[in-house]
Amino acid sequence: YLNYCVPRTRKEIFETLVKGLQRLEYRGYDSAGIAVDGDKNTTTDGINKNNIVLIKKNGKVKALDEELYKKDCMDLEVELDTHFGMAHTRWATHGEPSALNSHPLRSDKNNEFVVIHNGIITNYKELKKYLNSKGYEFESETDTEVIPKLIKYVYDNREREDLSFSTLVERVIQQLVRSPLLIGVRSKYELSAEHIPIQYNTGELCSPLSDIITLQSMFKEGVQEKNSHNRPDIANAVNSAEDGKAVEYYFASDASAIIEHTNKVIYLEDDDIAAVVGGKLSLHRLNRLAGEVPVRAIQTLQMELQEIMKGNFEAFMQKEIFEQPESVFNTMRGRICFDTNKVILGGLKDHLKEIKRCRRLIMIGCGTSFHAAVATRQALEELTELPVMVELASDFLDRNTPVFRDDVCFYISQSGETADTLMALRYCKDRGALTVGVTNTVGSSISRDTDCGVHINAGPEIGVASTKAYTSQFVALIMFGLMMSEDRISLQTRRLEIINGLRILPELIKKVLTLDKNIKSIADELYEQRSLLVMGRGFNYATCLEGALKIKEIPYMHSEGILAGELKHGPLALIDKHMPVIMIIMRDACYTKCQNALQQVTARSGRPIILCCQDDPEVSKNAYKTIELPQTVDCLQGILSVIPLQLLSFHLAVLRGYDVDCPRNLAKSVTVE
Ligand code: F6R
Repeated sequence: YLNYCVPRTRKEIFETLVKGLQRLEYRGYDSAGIAVDGDKNTTTDGINKNNIVLIKKNGKVKALDEELYKKDCMDLEVELDTHFGMAHTRWATHGEPSALNSHPLRSDKNNEFVVIHNGIITNYKELKKYLNSKGYEFESETDTEVIPKLIKYVYDNREREDLSFSTLVERVIQQLVRSPLLIGVRSKYELSAEHIPIQYNTGELCSPLSDIITLQSMFKEGVQEKNSHNRPDIANAVNSAEDGKAVEYYFASDASAIIEHTNKVIYLEDDDIAAVVGGKLSLHRLNRLAGEVPVRAIQTLQMELQEIMKGNFEAFMQKEIFEQPESVFNTMRGRICFDTNKVILGGLKDHLKEIKRCRRLIMIGCGTSFHAAVATRQALEELTELPVMVELASDFLDRNTPVFRDDVCFYISQSGETADTLMALRYCKDRGALTVGVTNTVGSSISRDTDCGVHINAGPEIGVASTKAYTSQFVALIMFGLMMSEDRISLQTRRLEIINGLRILPELIKKVLTLDKNIKSIADELYEQRSLLVMGRGFNYATCLEGALKIKEIPYMHSEGILAGELKHGPLALIDKHMPVIMIIMRDACYTKCQNALQQVTARSGRPIILCCQDDPEVSKNAYKTIELPQTVDCLQGILSVIPLQLLSFHLAVLRGYDVDCPRNLAKSVTVE
């Protein structure tokens, strides 16, 4: 946040930074810190310099917020004219969560240079050793601290007096073996944000340093500009402030942090450097010698503030579960014509011929996004008549999976920034496959780096547990299948059945949400249990995996999603009258087989809670409890069957006293490998 000639009190600066951090807390919440201008002082060389004050705190942003007002040495009401503030919330990778390890990190006790950083410096051990040998002492266990120390070292040893701040920072970046990184550096009068891509080549990844190399996906950092001339494009070194004109700049890793200040953003690209000097913003490329002049459009954000507010809900997760009738509708909006039964995904239509000619479809994702691939695999095989592989991104890379030029690879990711998925994308691109993004974040790395794609339009998802993104990914992938099968005569009846199912889906989701009270009462019974098994097969197997993941990550309960067909091959040994079991038994092709599994469970005194279709006495009579769902087309049923498990996870977490939106040890965007 940089403010040029706009008077603000220090209190206002704190509030702006803290609010921004709170919006970004979903990215990590182990510790947080800020750097702001202190009082001016005049150095021995007569230069008027800002003192930089650092305030850092272990724990959530709230703890930092409280800490800020304890600093009685700082006058909160003092009006500052030109000034800056920098803030960071951390998800620990190197060094435990603590105030000392939190950002900003500094060059020395005088806070000459302070740095915030997202990413990983893979050669930090070597750099640290070198800097130690030169007498620089480190105070944290982080890799980041080498950056301010190295800046200070290069500065102390500069040959020319007029070394500009930007050049200084660039020189340092060139010494870093790094994953993509965004850093903000503050010194004296300038602020600069650097944006560097991963050094992606397998040689480097296999080097002895590879255990810590990662992909940090800060590709879409926005430079937010306010009170300036919002020209449709901004060319190199364009200044948005005329001399002396008041202007504020915001640099953020996510637009949600600044949406209340401006909706005009510039997305930096790999190797871009943005610097504000003397109230003027300039953009240039890391290696100036290349003489490249970047032109970056000023874009208008569509996001509304209320979209990222909790409203009357207790938690974002709860709000997002209840938003699903609308989010799923928005995924389909303008893409399905219910009169002609045409489905058009604008981002894919130009590549359709190529996709139809491919050898196979490979669906790649992590966690919930992977489950969306599992959930739709059978329908995609049926509608595309192509082999469909589903892959966890990390495992796909670990196996060095063979990929060919005539493969089509899908990257499914809510955030569009998940490091493992992004690495898999680069891996497949290098092998010449066509790459397709399925993301919820416009401008994200995955949506930008893929050849084509689908935006799922679910709206911002803030709760760490993914809910509405899952159902929208599900719908988007089914729509892809429908688009692929449009000219297949033999598939028209099936297509029609699915399209009709999609048409009424939002209404059916609303009906499922009315079961909330019933599910809360089940949670009341289960919340003290240690374990919970979720069983099903066929189209509902993915619901078991996804439900079990939700129950692990929010209420911290051990849970397993079990393929009912595998029951007799091992898991049956777990069943007795004490083990809580949820079974999903819908009226589809697997109905009879699921009934068999139910018999196996009840024969061992198991007391299953069964998710089933309305009016199914055959199933109900063997159930300990039932949750009855409206029936829909078999391949869409998973959208309805997952919702009770999302709600159950939410209620279990509340009853167990946990923070629903900030589960321990997790972050919303996993930008490290
Ligand atoms: C679970 C969850 C995670 C994410 C996973 C991938 O609730 O949210 O499992 O699904 O980290 O994230 P994206 O979809 O952003 O790539």
